[in-house]
Amino acid sequence: MKNISVIGCGTMGNGIAHVFAMNGFKVQLIDINEVALQKALEKISNNLERQVGKQVITAEQKTETLANINTTTDLKTGVGNADLVIEAATENINIKLQLFKDIDANAPSHCILSSNTSSISITKIAAQTNRPDKVIGMHFMNPVPVMKLVEVINGYKTSKEVTETIMTLSKNIGKTPTLVNDYPGFVANRILMPMINEAIITLNEGVAGVEEIDTVMKLGMAHPMGPLQLADFIGLDVCLAIMNVLNDGLGNPKYAPSPLLINMVTSGDLGIKSGRGFYDYSHGGKELVVAPNFK
Ligand code: CAA
Repeated sequence: MKNISVIGCGTMGNGIAHVFAMNGFKVQLIDINEVALQKALEKISNNLERQVGKQVITAEQKTETLANINTTTDLKTGVGNADLVIEAATENINIKLQLFKDIDANAPSHCILSSNTSSISITKIAAQTNRPDKVIGMHFMNPVPVMKLVEVINGYKTSKEVTETIMTLSKNIGKTPTLVNDYPGFVANRILMPMINEAIITLNEGVAGVEEIDTVMKLGMAHPMGPLQLADFIGLDVCLAIMNVLNDGLGNPKYAPSPLLINMVTSGDLGIKSGRGFYDYSHGGKELVVAPNFK
């Protein structure tokens, strides 16, 4: 396996491209937006520089890594030589299902098709293609260059050979793959999102403030970030989309998204990416400042 095509150059896509390119793979980074592709290259370069500064890699390795990445806005040529496609586009089911039809039509027949989806059914995605045995989930965690986990998700028809190939490949790029089955939210978000949602419900009920809730979880449970800060980091729209998948798929009222989460997403307070969520990032986000609504 040599050629990896990554679809979508947002936070997850550029992190995935970064890690594969750093491990010697040839990466095609594909996005419909040329400006976003240029921004992604800048981001990757800055994150590599951070690693050079920490002596995780040398300046030479940084140059080699960047040379391993090509960008294109054309899906057809972008996946034409791929051994593995990793889709990391917007977490929207209709976009993903259409994308997989297009990828299937243009990728070589031996190519494995994977999705970085955080909650959409791999079996449903696989059913859009003529190769459901070669479709699998590769769920990376943010920030991809730092986080060790790849949650590998077997669809209903994923073949043993494909699972083994992806498990080995994930180890070869320095990650720890963990195999789970296709069920709403898989494992990571089945457990993480109800915790975040419960933190938002706790805030909404006035049990404690933003900083207090995050401090309890940071200092009491040794989490690197409190759940509200983590929600801002992930994106509140993504959190809501995942809660909706759990709520619809598992049919238990305990998965209902908090009305506060719904209101914040409706108002455009999406966390770091919009400049405001539970915290205010308009001053650069170096120091955590609670957003005005929660003071
Ligand atoms: N690229 C490369 N290196 C990076 C990086 C990036 N994008 N971001 C951070 N780093 C490195 C830093 O250089 C630093 O390296 P050293 O340890 O060698 O000094 C290290 O990571 C820690 O970074 P910082 O010192 O800047 O900050 P920190 O100590 O607060 O750590 C963090 C940042 C790693 C993000 C940490 O806060 C953390 O682990 N947060 C929780 C992350 C998490 O839970 N992610 C999962 C989200 S859920 C998800 O992604 C899936 C989903 O489906 C929703």
